Amino acid sequence: MPRKPTMRGDESAPPAKRCVAAPEETVEEQIIAVTLRPAGFDRYVGQKPVVENLKISIEAAKRRNEPLEHVLVHGPPGLGKTTLANIIARDMGATFHQVSGPTLERPGDLVGILTNLQTGDVLFIDEIHRLPRVVEEFLYPAMEDFAIDFMVDKGAYAKTIKISLKRFTLVGATTRAGMLSAPLRDRFGIVHHLEYYTPDELCEIVTHSASVLGVALEPGGAREIAARARGTPRVANRLLRRLRDYAEVRANGVIDLSVARAALELERIDLLGLDSLDRAFLNALIGQYNGGPVGIGALAASLNEEEATLVDVVEPYLMQIGFLQRTAAGRRATPAARAHTGDRLADPPRLL
Ligand SMILES: Nc1ncnc2c1ncn2[C@@H]1O[C@H](COP(=O)(O)OP(=O)(O)O)[C@@H](O)[C@H]1O
Ligand SMILES: [Mg+2]
Repeated sequence: MPRKPTMRGDESAPPAKRCVAAPEETVEEQIIAVTLRPAGFDRYVGQKPVVENLKISIEAAKRRNEPLEHVLVHGPPGLGKTTLANIIARDMGATFHQVSGPTLERPGDLVGILTNLQTGDVLFIDEIHRLPRVVEEFLYPAMEDFAIDFMVDKGAYAKTIKISLKRFTLVGATTRAGMLSAPLRDRFGIVHHLEYYTPDELCEIVTHSASVLGVALEPGGAREIAARARGTPRVANRLLRRLRDYAEVRANGVIDLSVARAALELERIDLLGLDSLDRAFLNALIGQYNGGPVGIGALAASLNEEEATLVDVVEPYLMQIGFLQRTAAGRRATPAARAHTGDRLADPPRLL
């Protein structure tokens, strides 16, 4: 049975991670994410070049009365890829269908979805780098010629039938553009990369979230969250909720600067926004491997953590703040990372 497209959040999201601020989504977060998700470009903070370009592409497509070209959005988790896909559909006045790469196991899983798409509909494929090869290849003619070749029956009776599709727009999201095959990447007419957000942008996002959720957040508290949210809106919104709990239990419900600092200290988020997994990574790299170069497989084994989490979540931010280099020989810590880690090497070991 083909899986039905869904309008809900990503049901295939991995279970909550141990780490406090790893930007993966928990169920609570998926619900909150829908509440806090900006509905239009006017509420989508930052990512100016991406937003400007997309608005032009959308406007041009509308003027020509054509569906939008296929769009690929890549960048670390929690930066607004799913949000952007929703906004694109809304702006195009299109129906939004969502599936996740790893849930599509066989071409048959896509047939029902593709044949049900109406002209201009947006099909959002999250984690598109995790599509099995056979499904990916099945998508090529769907994206290019809006037709699919589908095998019916088995053995001697097997025959291929060609089904034509309505002209839809595929929006793909990935944390790893490098893992996409060249033929798939080439079939996207529009490709955008999302960048980490500035503290000012995060401050705007978290202030707006507080007003939606009815949380008393003072400007000092907002700035403190923004500074320590790893450049990531999902983390900023998550910290807001943790700080709200803290403020309700330990303070008078108001998140001001001192409440924010005390709560973040308790959450073991340091002044740069690094959490326990980031620090464990640096401690292993510097303490165990003398700063590298070391392969990611060895680091993952030392930390008993999935390589994908380190590559998708931990490393991009450490590179962004100039703490990590990826070289041909392996991962290397920079002098800045050594200086920051310094006396923290005595951090208690993480509970595995
Ligand atoms: N540009 C933005 N402006 C305001 N809020 C944002 C923005 N980008 C992301 N968010 C918030 O962060 C949360 C995570 O975004 P999401 O689109 O799910 O990230 P991704 O799909 O890249 O992992 C959303 O629920 C939304 O509230
Ligand atoms: Mg997403």
